[in-house]
Amino acid sequence: MNKKTWRDIVKKKGKEKITVLTAYDFPTAKALAETELDSILVGDSGGMNVLGYDSTLPVTMEDMEMFTRAVARARPPQLIVADMPFMSYEISVERALENAARLVRCGAEAVKIEGGKEVTEVVSALVRAGIPVMGHVGLTPQRVLRIGGYRTMGSEVDQLVEDAKALERAGAFSVVVENSYAEAARAVTESLSVPTICIGAGPHCDGQVLVIHDILGMSDVRPYFARMYRNLREEIRAAVQEYVRDVKSGSFPSSENYKERKPHLNAKENA
Ligand code: KIV
Ligand code: NA
Repeated sequence: MNKKTWRDIVKKKGKEKITVLTAYDFPTAKALAETELDSILVGDSGGMNVLGYDSTLPVTMEDMEMFTRAVARARPPQLIVADMPFMSYEISVERALENAARLVRCGAEAVKIEGGKEVTEVVSALVRAGIPVMGHVGLTPQRVLRIGGYRTMGSEVDQLVEDAKALERAGAFSVVVENSYAEAARAVTESLSVPTICIGAGPHCDGQVLVIHDILGMSDVRPYFARMYRNLREEIRAAVQEYVRDVKSGSFPSSENYKERKPHLNAKENA
């Protein structure tokens, strides 16, 4: 499969739905690599799904670097987008450039930044430096304290549209719309020439993104807007129970799982 770039994502607008899922580790990225998925988002949601944090606020650059390297080592054909974590791009444009470069050096092929008009200076500086940027409006979980909880956004449609348009003007190649009323996401989608990728923002978007732990039944709290396709936590629990039972009963290990005697080695092989 050919490597996808940000341009392949942009070209799909108005033609074909764009599909994105998160991944934070090597085996998951290996599995995704064999699918028709368009892009892998190394989200800071890995802080919750893999590291057990209560929010994305504790996630550090080091965490994001480790996730990004692990995903990139799977060499997936999908575009690898890495989240810039909380406070890695807010302090100054200079710091944002340095931190984005760290993610690119780990294998990110684009970065995602939360926010609207207030981050456009950073977005254009990154794009100027050669780093494709995905925007993120609506519910922005890194601002959960200020927002006052994980709420559905987009009651101010004009504001959402203005923010998304500002991101497009700054050079963003796509915009995530999170947890927003479907009508607001539709207005954003219709007013942009770059694609919208939605999560909990309805069907009128150019693409959809979900957290892989939600679709696989591996997350602690699954939001209503995610669909669970498999229940891997249940599968793991059942497999572990079987293993415990087999060890206790002596049915594991069986003859194919061990070697009875040290095989005879001739002198040459021993040397
Ligand atoms: O970190 C994440 O998983 C995200 C998606 C919800 C878009 O930012
Ligand atoms: Na995120």
